[in-house]
Amino acid sequence: ADIPVITIDGPTASGKGTLTDVVAHALGYHVLDSGALYRVTGLAASRAGVSLDDGDAVAALVPTLDLRFTQGHVFLAGQEVSADLRLEATGLMASQVGAHPPVRRALHQLQLDFRRLPGLVADGRDMGTAIFPEASLKVFLTASAATRAERRYRQLISKGLSANMEGLRADLEARDARDKGRSASPLQAAADAIELDNSAQTIEESRDLVLSWWQQKR
Ligand code: C5P
Repeated sequence: ADIPVITIDGPTASGKGTLTDVVAHALGYHVLDSGALYRVTGLAASRAGVSLDDGDAVAALVPTLDLRFTQGHVFLAGQEVSADLRLEATGLMASQVGAHPPVRRALHQLQLDFRRLPGLVADGRDMGTAIFPEASLKVFLTASAATRAERRYRQLISKGLSANMEGLRADLEARDARDKGRSASPLQAAADAIELDNSAQTIEESRDLVLSWWQQKR
C-alpha cells in the first residue's frame, strides 16, 4: 500500500491515455489503461457469442480470459488485439459491459495487480473513486465535446482509419451519458480530485502541471 498511485479519470477522449503515458514516462511508473480491460472483455464476450446485456455471463467469462499486457500491446488468447480494441465499436461494447456490477467486480483485482513499484498511473472512469480511493493524487481530466471529437478524429485518421466527425461526437456523447448515468461506479470526479480542463492546453503543459501537483504531494 506504500506504492504510489496517481489516478487520471475523465470522459471519453479527454486525453487521459496520452497524459497517463507521458506522466508515467516522466516518473518511470507503470501504466494501467483500465479502459483496455473493459474493451477486451466486451470484445471477448462478443466473440464468444455472450450477450453484452447479460452481466453475470460476461463476468463469468472474465476469469477464463487468457490476457497479456505488454507496453501498450494487448494479447487475447495469444493473439494481438490492440487494433481491434481501439475501434469505436469496441468502445461502445466496453461501455455496455462496464454498466454491469458483476463485470466491474470481476475486473477489480486485475486492476489492483497493476500497482507495482516504483509506482502506477491509472487511467479510467473510476480509478480515484472505486479502485484506488487512497491514491495520493487524483486528476479529473475534462475537455469540451468539440475538442474531444476533434482529437479522436485526428487519432483515427493518423492510424489510417476512416472517421466521421459528427458521428464521433454523437458516439462520445452517448458513451459519456451512459458512463455518467449508470449506478455502478458512474463517471464522476472523486471529492478530492483536482479538475483539469485541458481543451486549450498542450500535452506538455498538462503533464508539467500534474508533475508539479505530484511534487507538492510528496
Ligand atoms: O477509456 P476507454 O475509452 O478505453 O474506455 C472504454 C469504456 O470502458 C468507457 O466508455 C467506459 O464505459 C468503460 N470503462 C469503465 N471504467 C473504467 C474504464 C473504462 O467503465 N475504469
